[in-house]
Amino acid sequence: MCGIIGFTGGRNAAGVLLDGLAELEYRGYDSAGISCFTQNGITTVKTVGKVANLKACLPPGLNSSCGIGHTRWATHGGVSQTNAHPHTCGRVTLIHNGIIENYLALREELEKTGRTPVSQTDSEIAAMLIDSLYDGDAQAAIRAAAARLEGAYAFCILFADQPGTIYCIRKGSPLVACHCEAGSIIASDMVALLRYSKDYFVLEENQIARLNADGIALTGADGTPSFPDYQTVTWDVSSAQKNGFKHYMEKEIHEQPEALSRTITPRIIKYHENGAVYTLPDFSADCIPDSVFQKLSRIIITACGTAMHAGMMGKVLFERLLRIPVTVDIASEFRYQDPILDENTLVITVSQSGETADTLAALRLARSAGARTLSIVNVKGSSIARESEHVFYTHAGPEIAVASTKAYTAQLAAFYLIAFRAAFANGRLTAAECSARTDGLLSMIPSIHRVLEMKEVTEKLSRHLTRASDLFFIGRGMDYALSCEGSIKLKEISYIHSEAYAAGELKHGTLSLITADVPVIALATQHDVLPKMVSNIKEVRARGAFVILVTAADAVVEESQYDYRIDLPATDDWFAPFAAAVVLQLIAYHTSYLRGLDVDQPRHLAKSVTVE
Ligand code: M6R
Repeated sequence: MCGIIGFTGGRNAAGVLLDGLAELEYRGYDSAGISCFTQNGITTVKTVGKVANLKACLPPGLNSSCGIGHTRWATHGGVSQTNAHPHTCGRVTLIHNGIIENYLALREELEKTGRTPVSQTDSEIAAMLIDSLYDGDAQAAIRAAAARLEGAYAFCILFADQPGTIYCIRKGSPLVACHCEAGSIIASDMVALLRYSKDYFVLEENQIARLNADGIALTGADGTPSFPDYQTVTWDVSSAQKNGFKHYMEKEIHEQPEALSRTITPRIIKYHENGAVYTLPDFSADCIPDSVFQKLSRIIITACGTAMHAGMMGKVLFERLLRIPVTVDIASEFRYQDPILDENTLVITVSQSGETADTLAALRLARSAGARTLSIVNVKGSSIARESEHVFYTHAGPEIAVASTKAYTAQLAAFYLIAFRAAFANGRLTAAECSARTDGLLSMIPSIHRVLEMKEVTEKLSRHLTRASDLFFIGRGMDYALSCEGSIKLKEISYIHSEAYAAGELKHGTLSLITADVPVIALATQHDVLPKMVSNIKEVRARGAFVILVTAADAVVEESQYDYRIDLPATDDWFAPFAAAVVLQLIAYHTSYLRGLDVDQPRHLAKSVTVE
């Protein structure tokens, strides 16, 4: 949801900002702009479209050592050059990521002082407000403005009379920064810093950062100086590049075996009991004690999009193993349901970015109501990770494509590990049973390699989907959870309407939409419900559907019931969703590519959704 970057130092600022914006473009890409201090004051260039368009618009020889840059995902006001950031009012030029909820009231108030906004954005109102409060003391103006602003924001601000300096503040939206040999740099995401430094710190909410070429000064909300708490990323710059793949999505799909190893293997220990040695999940290094999973009356999983679909799989696992009620809530709905929360409720939030505004709000509500909180997060130091009582990092590595792939399977692995450990901690699985399941999880990883070799098959069948206007995914139990994920993956990047249906539910209304040649992707990875699934497949087949069956190699299904059949590598049914998920990702990927679409940056979407 908008990428922002600021740089001041010994390099050409425009170059640093453009490189950074290209890395941040996955966060939003409808328009882009930069403002730089030059000999003639602040020069601003902005344009509709991607960062490449912005690059083409820059005046030759733009010479600057300090500036700010923005790539936008429109919230307030359409996609236009005027609404693109940076916004200038008087001596203030700023970029913003977030939403100012009370901007209309502020605009009315500021208009009475003779200021007239030129854009429809909430961000320009923030620039006007800060300018109205600025009398030479930037920090005082920012603090006074922050006290008036409702909503979420990360700002990088230039004051025309302070060349070489950038001020930043955030609430609810992310900012990470570092001072390195190149100078001082701040951005929405570590990926924009990575070519300069592996060390970074997260700007605390309500801290003000003052960036100069020779360092970054931090001031706390009470005005006292504070010091950055530097962290180091374990991945390098190539992790956030395409490395020979056509698209980030393709690369990230192929990274899944390694990503899953990073999620699982560090959490596996040898456990000794009565002379026997068992392989068990263990979260001591994550500082997650077994007590988090004990004496629970219920579990609530809340998240958005793909992360919520991982949670649906978590529900199946927890209910099977723990025998306590588990609900999965869409994070944007959670607060409005007045959820029943107490100290015996475990609320699990799931988020790749760790910045999704609705998920963060759900977490805050859970904490304030005294529930136990555990978050499954990919991005280290993100807001959700920092605010959760316990964090399980998935270690999937940077995920750049808007469509989530490796983060999803890593989230699934996290749920499996947590369910196994929780069942062991509650005496629901013996050490031997838990060990057998954990071994099964580990042995699932090679099956992903085998699915990745099925490129030709998935590409060939995707050709049949490119002209579809509607499509259905059906499955039961775990396969229903997976259907939801297959459906969102396909629709977000191929723009083909699709729906996920519990296979048995179709006949209660939706079957009327199944006509000749409507593609139905039937997931039948679970032997216990296979006969029922076969009946449901026959129901759609009888209406002329074009059926793609994804199933176990030994599943007996009459050939006349499908057009394509994908046999998954042999594995225990418990772990089949992993390989099946990769099949669905490949189908979505090829369909989008064959339709000539922007696989990594689909229209209207952004990777990190930091607005509610
Ligand atoms: O960063 P998060 O995991 O919290 O993001 C949640 C969703 O926005 C995200 O999973 C989205 O649904 C993906 N683009 C789907 O591929």
